[in-house]
Amino acid sequence: MLAQLLYQYQDQPGGLLPLLHAVQADFGYIPADAVPPIARAMQLSAAEVEGVISFYHDFRRQPAGRHTLHICRAESCQAAGGEALVAHLQARLGIEPGQSSADGELTVESVYCLGNCACSPALRIGDATHARVDIARLDALLDSLLESAS
Ligand code: FES
Repeated sequence: MLAQLLYQYQDQPGGLLPLLHAVQADFGYIPADAVPPIARAMQLSAAEVEGVISFYHDFRRQPAGRHTLHICRAESCQAAGGEALVAHLQARLGIEPGQSSADGELTVESVYCLGNCACSPALRIGDATHARVDIARLDALLDSLLESAS
């Protein structure tokens, strides 16, 4: 599977980003052991590939949890208290954006605008966007997610 993707993108100018997206689409994340062969195929160093992966927030280094919570960290949501929600997620779940809970139930990802700036701060769980979220609302959303998991 990886070999096929490497073959498909290795001669494509600017092929690294589409290759990384294709790897993530296939595996659900970018496995650490995929980086060296990706680097060789694209004639880059592993550090250069790692740099690109860490620069783009879309790339995951671990498999996603059963649910994904996208928290908006763009300007409007930041100004309306979005970072307090991030801190609360970290305190309650012990994970930060880009990580998944140990039980595999929840992945938290940063997102930079959900198109809902007038109702900041906003977050999305699955396909549902939630607006004007405060800590009590975030807790209620997490409770209902975690209840549905048990
Ligand atoms: S800045 Fe958060 S929805 Fe636009």
